Amino acid sequence: MGEYHIIGGRRLRGEVVIGGSKNAALPILAAAVLGKRSVIHNCPKISDVECTMEILRILGCVVEYNGHTAVIDARGMTSHELPKEQMTKMRSSMLFTGGLLSRFGQFFAYNPGGCELGKRPINLHLDAFRSLGAEVIEGKEEFSAKADKLEGCKICLKFPSVGATQNIMIAATLTQGVTTIENAAKEPEVVDLQNFLVAAGAKIAGAGTSTIVIEGVRELHDVEYTIMSDRIVAGTYLTAAAITQGSVRIKNVVHEDMRPIVEKLADMGAIVTQEIGAINLSAPYRLKSLRHLETNPHPAFPTDMQPQIMTLLATAHDNCTIEEAVFEARDKHVPELVKMGAQIKANKNIFHIQGVAQLHGTTVCAKDLRGGAALILAGLAAQGKTIVKGGVYVERGYEAMHKDLQSLGADIKLTSSKND
Ligand code: UD1
Repeated sequence: MGEYHIIGGRRLRGEVVIGGSKNAALPILAAAVLGKRSVIHNCPKISDVECTMEILRILGCVVEYNGHTAVIDARGMTSHELPKEQMTKMRSSMLFTGGLLSRFGQFFAYNPGGCELGKRPINLHLDAFRSLGAEVIEGKEEFSAKADKLEGCKICLKFPSVGATQNIMIAATLTQGVTTIENAAKEPEVVDLQNFLVAAGAKIAGAGTSTIVIEGVRELHDVEYTIMSDRIVAGTYLTAAAITQGSVRIKNVVHEDMRPIVEKLADMGAIVTQEIGAINLSAPYRLKSLRHLETNPHPAFPTDMQPQIMTLLATAHDNCTIEEAVFEARDKHVPELVKMGAQIKANKNIFHIQGVAQLHGTTVCAKDLRGGAALILAGLAAQGKTIVKGGVYVERGYEAMHKDLQSLGADIKLTSSKND
């Protein structure tokens, strides 16, 4: 398993171009099962995308994946059964269920795996399928659905789940009648999915607001689409610059999408300026803490940046409280940061962080994707050498993060990885 070896203390300097978004690519690739031939540019080369391509192939799609472009031909698709191995690796495999239900009137699936951030139930997805007219059967490890006929309806989500919103959009695209999602997730990746589906001939409006309306169409046509850039990767690199008291330019970003992250970094005293498609951040001194930060659905501060900003706060002047309000157990990075000298006390989903002047290098273990990225940031700022084990988690969502950080001047190596 890959390990990151980091010698801390170098100020990051330079510029880096952000690639395609994982959380936009995964639903768009899953939605390709609805269409004919989809040419999808700017697909990040990360293990979750590779796993998604495997699922597409197993379902009977013809998939080519060269550079950052995927060509998916779903015309000859034959199977409505999702493979256990891939499905239990990745939570986003759930996004195939809506497409299969809509295309074949049935699916067979296994409980999805993925990063352990709490219970992560799938009830909102399954309840929505039931509302559309499917009969859903839930077993211990597997579940399936069947429908003689699906029909558009009104679905009000109890929580604006990103995955459930996207799965309903996908399921409703070819479903007769009008489906309305209320209390929908407003994340930019939901908008990107709408843009992809509309480019393929779907009739969807409202993504980015809390009401999304989908008018079912009979079929989609060939489509060529470019995935949006990854706001979480961009936020991670901005935070890396801040924690090393460096100065970077992050290119290929959408300012509006970055605002919830950039505002907090600026509140901490980082100097942030914007150019067309780029953000400059410099932090020539140790930043000051925030008093309180809460993660919440977009446009609030994203939970996918919580571990990274916690690491920055752990090295800032003064103290802060973070409330993780999206996932009940997104905390695997906390004991690892404490091993590096951070002063963090956790009380369920509330974290009290007293900033320290210096973290120290040691061996720590990534247990999930963003927590792993946070430990790498800690290593960049720490005195001495840090080894971050569990690199496989980081590779789920960052395409060669070590190379991007090297290009900014970091002393970081990744051992035994396909991206080395
Ligand atoms: C997506 C992102 C993930 C991000 C998360 C929140 C992808 C591939 N992943 O995950 O990186 O951290 O949004 O921004 O895009 N919930 C239920 N029942 C359900 C579904 C969700 O109770 O059926 C709860 C979850 O347990 C969680 C909350 O809703 O507490 C948010 O989850 P959700 O928005 O669905 O996250 P994902 O789509 O899994």
